[in-house]
Amino acid sequence: MKLFYFHAAGDVPDNFSADSAVVIDVLRATTTIAWALNNGAEAIQTFTELEELKNESLKWPSDKRVLVGERGGKKIDGFDIGNSPLGVTPDVVKGKRIFMSTTNGTRALNRVRDVSNLLTLSLPNRSAIGKKLLVDLPSTVCILGSGWEGSYSLEDSLAAGSLGAFLLADHSGSINVGNDELNAALALWDLWKENIEGCLRIASHGQRLAGIANHDDDFACCAELDMLSVVPFQSEPGVLRAY
Ligand code: MLT
Repeated sequence: MKLFYFHAAGDVPDNFSADSAVVIDVLRATTTIAWALNNGAEAIQTFTELEELKNESLKWPSDKRVLVGERGGKKIDGFDIGNSPLGVTPDVVKGKRIFMSTTNGTRALNRVRDVSNLLTLSLPNRSAIGKKLLVDLPSTVCILGSGWEGSYSLEDSLAAGSLGAFLLADHSGSINVGNDELNAALALWDLWKENIEGCLRIASHGQRLAGIANHDDDFACCAELDMLSVVPFQSEPGVLRAY
């Protein structure tokens, strides 16, 4: 298994081909996805365009749909909830279709939606995703961060390093690092693995969230490692379900 990490959707070369993709948006889209599926959401349907999301959601009964989204870290007007993993509690999401759009996370998902096996990673389900990859044994994995508006994000790289470290520890003989972006992510993980929340807080998007409002509970939730067993996968283009 050869692992490649790219910082944001625009960094994946046009001709790059992978048989698995792992999308990361630690703060906060893929953490919210993991928690929503863990809490019983029927599926998460993701959109980059808000008009398309609104039109699609209207095809579902109002008591079976939840609109989740943010722009710039703030809840979108008219949506049911923002993009906080703390908002997708069982009473809000159980049995419901989540219609989701976020600033960067849903764009990263869109970039690799044609990859046959697409998973989403957050720190809480890091080992669940690692174990799934060790069962599937894809030959090439595209680990894709969401970044911020096309640029690097510290927290996504930290999570990419955490996944790389998990895989290398478990199967070092047959796991290869494919690019220096992943070497750097592994070094970042080594540096911060004892203070994950501290890393999230110094990250530029962490500071953006802290500047909007108190997000202490979001930081704590997004920094929790290996406590969910849920494996979100793309069952059809743009739709994520739990294995
Ligand atoms: C994003 O997609 O950029 C994020 O998930 C933003 C956030 O909700 O903090």
